[in-house]
Amino acid sequence: MGRDVIVACDFSNAQAVFDFLDKFTGRKPFVKIGMELFYAEGPSIVKEIKKRGHKIFLDLKLHDIPNTVKKSMAVLSSLDVDICNLHAGGTIRMMEAALEGLTRPDGSRPLLIAVTQLTSTDQESMENDLLIKEPIDKVVMHYAANAKKAGLDGVVCSPLEAGKVHEICGKEFLTVTPGVRFADGDIGDQKRVMTPAQAKLIGSDYIVVGRPITAADDPVAAYNRCVAEFVD
Ligand code: C5P
Repeated sequence: MGRDVIVACDFSNAQAVFDFLDKFTGRKPFVKIGMELFYAEGPSIVKEIKKRGHKIFLDLKLHDIPNTVKKSMAVLSSLDVDICNLHAGGTIRMMEAALEGLTRPDGSRPLLIAVTQLTSTDQESMENDLLIKEPIDKVVMHYAANAKKAGLDGVVCSPLEAGKVHEICGKEFLTVTPGVRFADGDIGDQKRVMTPAQAKLIGSDYIVVGRPITAADDPVAAYNRCVAEFVD
């Protein structure tokens, strides 16, 4: 899969997401389904969106003992998603178990990427709450290297970190980057943002874009603008 725009479909129910996706009569967006929608609607939402012809990033961020993650990943793999994820903080052994669980009998599997430190975690909360005293940039790169060691395909990271992740983990290691805003758009609650064009320059493989598309007056035009800046 090449560079692509993933639309974060952060809706609370199936009807809202179907109404949104119905607007896209041309190119079908790669869709991110998060915890809210998945917990509200269950696995059927994945099957329905898949049936409509969209690729799916199922963003459930698993983190548990290796055996539980392995078995849960096997269930997600059978849903035929294209990308799923977990927390690198669950250790290399948990990530290896996840990969085993994801791999289907024929050897195929969805891509698996890791969350390093959540962007909502800052240096202070990492030191005080998690007792991790290293600089956060070093922790993020160490977790990315762990994900690579475990055999994962990439990480979710800020577009500002994508270049460094590629330096450390190689060009083929995927960087999936939220925190994307148009140059003339609202930043909202995101702190460190980049435009789709800047994310392309710095080497992001996938950008995850939510409200700049979902809350736009013309979501299809906003999506097409992302594609024009980032993919074409
Ligand atoms: O609406 P917006 O473009 O900010 O949506 C970004 C999406 O990416 C949301 O689904 C958000 O949960 C997700 N995300 C993020 N920052 C991270 C990880 C995920 O914004 N570090």
